[in-house]
Amino acid sequence: MVCLVAMSDDSQADSPGDSSRPWLELAPDYERARTREDSLDRIVEWPAQRDLLGDVTGRSVLDLGCGNGGKLAELVRDGATASVGVDVSGNFLSDPPPGVEFIRGDLSELDSVPGLAGRRFDRILFLQSFGYAKDPVRTLQAARAMLADDGFILLTRTQPIRYAVERAEQNGTSLGEEYFSTASFSYVSGWNDHITLTKRPYTISALLNVFSAAGLWIEAAIEPQLSEDARRRYPHKQAWMNKYLGILLFKLRPIPASGSVLSAG
Ligand SMILES: C[S@@+](CC[C@H](N)C(=O)[O-])C[C@H]1O[C@@H](n2cnc3c(N)ncnc32)[C@H](O)[C@@H]1O
Repeated sequence: MVCLVAMSDDSQADSPGDSSRPWLELAPDYERARTREDSLDRIVEWPAQRDLLGDVTGRSVLDLGCGNGGKLAELVRDGATASVGVDVSGNFLSDPPPGVEFIRGDLSELDSVPGLAGRRFDRILFLQSFGYAKDPVRTLQAARAMLADDGFILLTRTQPIRYAVERAEQNGTSLGEEYFSTASFSYVSGWNDHITLTKRPYTISALLNVFSAAGLWIEAAIEPQLSEDARRRYPHKQAWMNKYLGILLFKLRPIPASGSVLSAG
């Protein structure tokens, strides 16, 4: 395994945005929760993400905010090549398969992550990590510039309605008031009761406008749900989904330059 460190443990660990800092401590708790038999990542999110990625044989993958890199390792076992995982936490698998490289770095500063300079990837992933970008359009533009020909970005985000429902309950307000609120909010992470995460609110239209501003179009959008079997086995998770909806998945491709549209037509 190659593990590059793009940030030192002390001085630069403070450099990611405030919203990323809790992950320096939270990462192992998240990975523990993810391996639970009934975790939503395991029963809904990863199967849908994997499905949208399709056959990865011979494809290079860049996973931004990769966590411990377990998903990337699985893609390499499925045939992906020359793949890189970047995460601010540095909490990576100790024995990934050959062909996986981990870099401790900040997805808000993709231009200055050393191991990425001049590289191109067939698939670029932001799986529940895009919300930590300080400047979302800039981060997506930097990712777009790293796409190989015919490459695409797979980006997932929590349904913003989930946070609006939670805050409306907590604050005794309405869904609309919270959904359209612009004030940052904090909540105790479900993975460790002692760690608070802070989020900027977003609406679905704001998210779609970020894609357009970064020069990307949506080839597919999915709102994955539990399978029939999972509903029967994990009714408490179906109850959670009934209330909070789950996540959104987007397959994004660069908008072709107008000249290439004309010549293609
Ligand atoms: C909810 S976890 C998702 C992990 C993984 N992508 C998955 O789908 O299981 C969010 C991840 O984003 C990482 N992260 C947060 N801020 C980041 C930043 N500024 N740069 C890189 N990674 C970041 C966290 O360390 C964490 O691993």
